[in-house]
Amino acid sequence: MIQSYLKLLGLLYILWDVAVSSFSEILMGSIKFTRYRRSQQLCMKCGVCVSIVKCPGDTNCIGCSSCYLACPFEAIIPEEVELVSREIPIWINDEKVFVPEGITLKIALELLGYEFVKFPLDVGPKKIYAPCETGGCYSCAVLVDGILAPLCHTAVRENIKINLDVSNVEPLRIVESFIPHTVGGVGTPWWIKGKGYIEVACFAAGCNLRCRTCQNFTITYRSLGKPMTPQEAAELLTKTRRRYGVDRLAISGGEPTLNRAWLVRFFKELKRLNPDTKARLHLDTNTTLLTRDYIDELVNAGVTDIGPDLKAYTLETFKKITNITDDTYARKYLETSWDAVKYMVDNYYPDTLFVGIGIPYNREFYKDLEELAKFGEAIARINPELQVCVLDYRAEFRAQTLRRPTIEEMLTIKKLLNDVGLKTVIVQTYLGHFGP
Ligand code: SF4
Ligand code: SF4
Ligand code: FES
Repeated sequence: MIQSYLKLLGLLYILWDVAVSSFSEILMGSIKFTRYRRSQQLCMKCGVCVSIVKCPGDTNCIGCSSCYLACPFEAIIPEEVELVSREIPIWINDEKVFVPEGITLKIALELLGYEFVKFPLDVGPKKIYAPCETGGCYSCAVLVDGILAPLCHTAVRENIKINLDVSNVEPLRIVESFIPHTVGGVGTPWWIKGKGYIEVACFAAGCNLRCRTCQNFTITYRSLGKPMTPQEAAELLTKTRRRYGVDRLAISGGEPTLNRAWLVRFFKELKRLNPDTKARLHLDTNTTLLTRDYIDELVNAGVTDIGPDLKAYTLETFKKITNITDDTYARKYLETSWDAVKYMVDNYYPDTLFVGIGIPYNREFYKDLEELAKFGEAIARINPELQVCVLDYRAEFRAQTLRRPTIEEMLTIKKLLNDVGLKTVIVQTYLGHFGP
């Protein structure tokens, strides 16, 4: 009796297996897809694409584009292909849907009608915020089988369960290099620079800009490493403060403001761990995502110093420096950064917030010096007392032929900015900083 029962079960299993296999064969699909491959001719074997990028593709490229964006020698080549693959079931908020195998969850959701946006105010129904797209910031992270993982950097798998609501989940972010500094950033008051260690800093992965001159590109494009909770990062930075005996605690990047929930909790926790009045909590930022309510939230969380890096005065130069080619985003980023500086200065400077502005200089970026003079005038109209640090942009990352400005050139720029009304101009040179 038992034997015939087992035979029947075996038969049913074979029938089921055949049915499923045929079903799978029917569910084959093809999509247009960009995959990335290393060019042996262009590759300089620098190792960046394997030492900072955690390829989510296992053995095949699933189109995340992280290695392509991180390669300093532009040796990773995009290829438009027709991807023919099995359609597999996945679950989104308990709804079963079918998507092609061999792609990222972000691409899968795009095929299902979701849009990914790179400006916080554009988020809405079926519009998900994904500003870095390189797996570092975790702004796009959702619960994947109960674990927080970035949509832009996770492969689809058969029957995985995705929960898009992460409002009650502890945020994560990749943060690196908890180190002491002798100079600090543009938001560090000039009069304390150069006196031994003055600040401890950590660096958050992921950025919404694509500057070819990125000085921290191994942080910016990093997806390798264990992501941290805000508490873990705040504790480690506080320990670093104690170890080096300084009063300033900073976060830079990459772009720290990308993951708002993470950053606000990080500063709250930093404030809780450093309640003394000497502690200064410093945010270094490109300012392109700092809306007014975000600034209020950061100040309430305990931020005391901000270093906004204003990339440009004109849209044309902003696009050239940041390599943001989309006009709509470039305009939003530029307008947001100027509005943010005016808002923080009008409402919080100098008593609640120290603001020190960074501006880039290399003559290749500017139409003429008149443009730079207008840049300085616009800052002076906000407040002529503001500390302005001019950064000498040089050969970095993908801009290997850029010539570093000479000291004479930087001192000319300093005089030009003083002449248009700015009282506190510092210029960065290869011999150090020249202050007011
Ligand atoms: S980052 Fe670019 S140049 Fe460096 S090893 Fe990878 S492909 Fe080669
Ligand atoms: S890192 Fe991303 S783009 Fe590069 S090979 Fe892996 S999946 Fe493809
Ligand atoms: S947008 Fe996905 S990790 Fe930053």
